[in-house]
Amino acid sequence: MASELIFRGHDPLQTIETYSPKPNKPSWHSLMQALHYILKEQRLLFTIVGIVIATLFFTFLPSTNHTYPTTITNYVSANSYRSENSLSAAPFINSGGKIPLGLKTKGLRIVVTGGAGFVGSHLVDRLMARGDSVIVVDNFFTGRKENVMHHFGNPRFELIRHDVVEPLLLEVDQIYHLACPASPVHYKFNPVKTIKTNVVGTLNMLGLAKRIGARFLLTSTSEVYGDPLQHPQVETYWGNVNPIGVRSCYDEGKRTAETLTMDYHRGAGVEVRIARIFNTYGPRMCIDDGRVVSNFVAQALRKEPLTVYGDGKQTRSFQYVSDLVEGLMRLMEGEHIGPFNLGNPGEFTMLELAQVVQETIDPNAKIEFRPNTEDDPHKRKPDITKAKDLLGWEPKVPLQKGLPLMVSDFRQRVFGDEKDSSTTG
Ligand SMILES: NC(=O)c1ccc[n+]([C@@H]2O[C@H](COP(=O)([O-])OP(=O)(O)OC[C@H]3O[C@@H](n4cnc5c(N)ncnc54)[C@H](O)[C@@H]3O)[C@@H](O)[C@H]2O)c1
Repeated sequence: MASELIFRGHDPLQTIETYSPKPNKPSWHSLMQALHYILKEQRLLFTIVGIVIATLFFTFLPSTNHTYPTTITNYVSANSYRSENSLSAAPFINSGGKIPLGLKTKGLRIVVTGGAGFVGSHLVDRLMARGDSVIVVDNFFTGRKENVMHHFGNPRFELIRHDVVEPLLLEVDQIYHLACPASPVHYKFNPVKTIKTNVVGTLNMLGLAKRIGARFLLTSTSEVYGDPLQHPQVETYWGNVNPIGVRSCYDEGKRTAETLTMDYHRGAGVEVRIARIFNTYGPRMCIDDGRVVSNFVAQALRKEPLTVYGDGKQTRSFQYVSDLVEGLMRLMEGEHIGPFNLGNPGEFTMLELAQVVQETIDPNAKIEFRPNTEDDPHKRKPDITKAKDLLGWEPKVPLQKGLPLMVSDFRQRVFGDEKDSSTTG
């Protein structure tokens, strides 16, 4: 069978003959062609309208936050970006869509150092109840996880085991700085650590406040008045403090912390608040911390004699913890720096206190006298006129009402009752 494959190629010579390249046209001709293309079918008009719409859109659309971080750490919140311009503790004003959608929160973001301790944990309860997001920073020296455990699982609550002597970066709107052992037994245990906590710890937290534009509240103490020569103590009194005694790590530490706080305010414009706290009692106090109320209550419950140091005539004033927390929050939210005395002016001698404890727990409890400890102040009573006038604050819970609330918490803990001991009262 003959092959059907037929050569269909064409003669190359013929091709060369018929090929006639197009003559080069002048460039003005292609320009005219392009113009013609653009003007045809109103293409130019549509392009201009598109540009106008895009310009209007990007001009009037609320701008997104240019400072939004590229990486968000565990603790970064949008609040701090807002707070840089609005440091006031008042609820945040929505600054024109500057916060990326989805990062807006209603409450404030607050760090409470020492938040697992006695006062701190009650403060945390109030802040959480108000709807804030709370980060507790605590090294658990005297604090306990049990004090804040009831917030575990709440997305607005975080707990960080951290020593404030080491720097820490968080993004918050307010810093309540409470971290420091408060009872003599604990602060004398390692005096160098105590003064480091007061000085280096406070420096770190003030540095943080400066960096992120947060408001800072220092919980100072009536101990800054030392063994006072003025009674009752007014905030303008400079105190009578032994700088080389066994209590100096705490007393002088807190005085330095106050100095640092004011220097950061004057020098770096940090918004600060200073509270001088007088003896406070309530549920969640450490049971054997040597503070007189907790001592008496624990002793009476265990049927041990109540130990009174010295002649028992030295006076103290005792405020219930919920009153203190109210005062701290008013101070933080208010416009005044302080220092403010926060305490209950009701004055009791140690013997009178022992009697109230006897009446509340065990009328047959015995009293045992022991020699007084070094540098124990003879009198302590706050003048709270300033807090009354400027913060509208004064304590409401009398000892006879507050003590039973503390006793029921101590009873559960002393006798190993595992029931929840988180009553704020
Ligand atoms: N309770 C009072 O009567 C009273 C009186 C005056 C002043 N204050 C002040 O109030 C604050 C709270 O006192 P409190 O009675 O709740 O005492 P607390 O001992 O119960 O609480 C202090 C908390 O700070 C933590 N802490 C201590 N050192 C730390 C560190 N280096 N880093 C991180 N956390 C640390 C402890 O673990 C504890 O949770 C303290 O600053 C104290 O000086 C209290």
